[in-house]
This record gives sequence, structure tokens and C-alpha cells, in this order.
Amino acid sequence: MLQWTLLLVLGLLSRQTAIAKKSVVEPRPSWTPILEGEAVTLICHGVGPLKEERAWWYKNQQSRGILSTNIIQTNQPGEYRCQTQGSTLSDPVNLVFSSELFSPPDLKTTTSEPIEGTPVNLSCETQLSPQRLDTKLYFSFTRDGMVITSSGKNSHVLQIPAIQTKDSGSYRCEAKAVTQNILKQSNYVKISVKSGNLSSFNSSEKISHLSLGLIVTQFIVVVLAASALLFFFGPWSKSGW
Ligand SMILES: *[C@@H]1O[C@H](CO)[C@@H](O)[C@H](O)[C@H]1NC(C)=O
Ligand SMILES: *[C@@H]1O[C@H](CO)[C@@H](O)[C@H](O)[C@H]1NC(C)=O
Repeated sequence: MLQWTLLLVLGLLSRQTAIAKKSVVEPRPSWTPILEGEAVTLICHGVGPLKEERAWWYKNQQSRGILSTNIIQTNQPGEYRCQTQGSTLSDPVNLVFSSELFSPPDLKTTTSEPIEGTPVNLSCETQLSPQRLDTKLYFSFTRDGMVITSSGKNSHVLQIPAIQTKDSGSYRCEAKAVTQNILKQSNYVKISVKSGNLSSFNSSEKISHLSLGLIVTQFIVVVLAASALLFFFGPWSKSGW
């Protein structure tokens, strides 16, 4: 029985050395869904038992590898191959991060057409992964591509106490997880600030329309009266004079 086992082991070993001189990339962990930004350990197995050695690493069909240790860490998705001394290039291992650490932010505003001088809140809304609710996110806001200072650091709300017409523009926010080095940008939100004098300007316009109407009416009345005078007194004056 022992002999059989030994033979089997020897057989396997010789088979391995004969055909499998390929290196093998082993990701750890390999069984759980990996959150984006999380570090994954990659081990490059060569021939024989795992020992500390150097290996060439290739990412995404790179023709030139990077010489490193045979155990590396990465948080970048991609296709990894490796090669140790005495083994040939491994098959690729595709590193996919299956879940988002946080959703792409959604920029929301209390109003897109605020009146000059009124307060406006812009809110950068995102959802953290339930497994990583303690992740620290940093938010920043831009208007027409220029970074504008947020009222409170790490706050996802930008408060504008009294918005001015010059604050009109296209707004966007971004959320950043610093340690994981992930940055996501929001949609654009267009804000056009209306002049605070618009309502009074409107009403004065209405008044001038009204007076113009009155002038026209008066003019028509005068013309009608003149026609009536001509009609009634015209023939009489013609025949009389
Ligand atoms: C803006 O947010 C602050 C703090 O959450 C709140 O007190 C304020 O009422 C908000 N303003 C508007 C215009 O929604
Ligand atoms: C709005 O009205 C105020 C006075 O009520 C005035 O000082 C200001 O210049 C006006 N602004 C505009 C844009 O007309």
C-alpha cells in the first residue's frame, strides 16, 4: 500500500516536471468577491515547493516584465502573468474586482434656477458598500472645471449661503477614497442664477405696457371722434360754405 502511494507520488512529480514547467499565478484570496481598491496577493509558483525567489511579472500583455519578488500585492484589475527562474511564462490570471467600494456620486441641488442672494445646497450623494461602511470619503466640487472650496472638509454638501449671478455654471462633484486611491466623478448640474431685480423689472415692464395700451386707446378714441366730427359736420360745412 505504501509502495503504491509512493509510486503514485513519484509518478505525479515526474509528470509535473516533464510537462508543467509553466509558472502559475495564484491570487489570494481567490474565492471571495474582491472589492475594488482592495489589495490582492499574487504568488508566482515555479517548479518545486514555494520558496522565496525573484520573478518577472507581466500585466495586460506587456512584453517587458518587471522583476520583483515572487509574492506581490496589487489593487489594480488586469491580466497578470509571471515567470520564475527555471519555469516558463504562466497562463494569465484575470483579476476582476466584483463589487464597488462606493457608487458613482450623484450631484443634487435644492434648485437649478435660484434667485440671486438666496441659499443653495449642492449635495454629492454616494452609497458605500455595506461591507465597508467605515470607508472615509473626501468630496470636492467644481464649477466649469474649476475647483471651488467646499464649506466643510469631508462634507458631501456644499452650502452657498447667498448665491450670486457669477455663480452660474456647470457644477460637478467628485468622491475620493484616499487609501484605496479610487476617485469617481458625478453628473453635471447646470445652475443659472436669476437676478434678484427680475420681479421688479418685470412689473415695471408691465406698467409701461399698460401705459402704452392706454396711449393707443386714447389715440383711437381721438381718431374716432375726429372721424365722427367730419362725418356729421363735413357735409354740412361743405354745402353750407
Ligand atoms: C442646506 O443644508 C443645511 C445643513 O444641512 C440646512 O440647514 C439648510 O436648511 C439647507 N438649505 C437649503 C436651502 O436647503
Ligand atoms: C438691484 O436693485 C438694487 C437696489 O434695489 C440695486 O442696488 C442693484 O444695482 C440692482 N441690480 C441690478 C442687477 O439691476
